[in-house]
Amino acid sequence: MTVIRGLEGIIATTSSISSIIDDSLAYVGYDIDSLAEHASFEEIVFLLWNRKLPIDIELRKFQQELAEHAELPDSFIEQLKIMPLKQVHPMAALRSAVSLLGVYDESAELMDDKSNYLKAVKLQAKMPTIVTAFSRLRKGLEPIGPRKDLSIAANFLYMLTGEEPEPIAIEAFNKALVLHADHELNASTFTARVCVATLSDIYSGITSAIGALKGPLHGGANEAVMKMLTEIGSLENVDAYIKEKMAKKEKIMGFGHRVYRKGDPRAKHLKIMAKKLTDLTGESYLYDMSVKIETMLKQEKNLVPNVDFFSASVYHSLKIDHDLFTPIFAVSRVSGWLAHILEQYDNNRLIRPRADYVGPERLAYIPVDERS
Ligand code: COA
Repeated sequence: MTVIRGLEGIIATTSSISSIIDDSLAYVGYDIDSLAEHASFEEIVFLLWNRKLPIDIELRKFQQELAEHAELPDSFIEQLKIMPLKQVHPMAALRSAVSLLGVYDESAELMDDKSNYLKAVKLQAKMPTIVTAFSRLRKGLEPIGPRKDLSIAANFLYMLTGEEPEPIAIEAFNKALVLHADHELNASTFTARVCVATLSDIYSGITSAIGALKGPLHGGANEAVMKMLTEIGSLENVDAYIKEKMAKKEKIMGFGHRVYRKGDPRAKHLKIMAKKLTDLTGESYLYDMSVKIETMLKQEKNLVPNVDFFSASVYHSLKIDHDLFTPIFAVSRVSGWLAHILEQYDNNRLIRPRADYVGPERLAYIPVDERS
């Protein structure tokens, strides 16, 4: 048996959702650069689920459908209030809340296409409301319900603060959602597919995916980047900080990637947005520090930033709490998880690899009172 650690380079499925070819990312054949420039997040969700961009009437109907399911029932908000709000990490809260949504959905166990599609709409629509409600509840504030006239990006920022966001904030947030929506067979998407390939339900698939995204080697990296930037504090400290990390052979969060070699095509869009926003907020030192770190890592280790590196200063500039960065990743990536779950159901086979056993063999059982 040849063991491929981390399943690197293993092709585990066919998929028609997103592709990474020669360091270029495309959703259903549309290059990420043009989508990041022009598309709304709602168009992207439609694209991932239907493998085509919507025409005007389809988009409006889809937005309406999402808006109809975005509210959380009062009884569900009461359940959120029971959580130890001050100490729980928002990703743990989101993981539990999504699992709870499944408990209250009477159609949770129905596996026909129509029921599964409706569950996908409910999850996509409700996740932004859950994250923002949690954020307010832990500050002792009442949640603010979604508005039907706002986009998902604008609604998220509105539900967080109660104020209608500036156009630049909506543009940045929408771009971030578009860029995070899907990424082929990344760890959390694979987790979702493994889960539902047992023919388990959609809520179980998304709950498992949130658990996988939470880790700092995956979605948790964006929060860790902000922690690092805060620890460094100023441009003069970058050199010593990074050199010390490298000397200790510690990883620098927001750098490196399993699949990309030349660079993550999503990072440049967030870099431009980070520059614009940090100039506006008067915190351009964050951008300058980031660029210095980028230059050092390129020179010293030939490592380039991934999607998490500049998204950290983008979200920080939008005045979002740092521990909400990864839940925001989930609010976007749930669109991709759902597309992959539906694709898995359409052509399912149990995912069950093998392990090369390296432990002891042929041991004789000794009763407990005779063991030394
Ligand atoms: N900082 C410093 N060195 C890094 C690094 C980083 N962020 N990412 C990779 N490397 C180095 C490793 O130390 C290793 O060097 P070595 O061969 O001398 O031991 C080499 O590059 C390969 O790294 P490895 O961890 O085996 O790559 P991987 O494909 O298993 O992991 C990541 C990919 C993304 C998990 C990894 O790059 C990483 O941990 N990055 C930081 C976390 C992060 O930003 N995650 C978000 C991904 S979108």
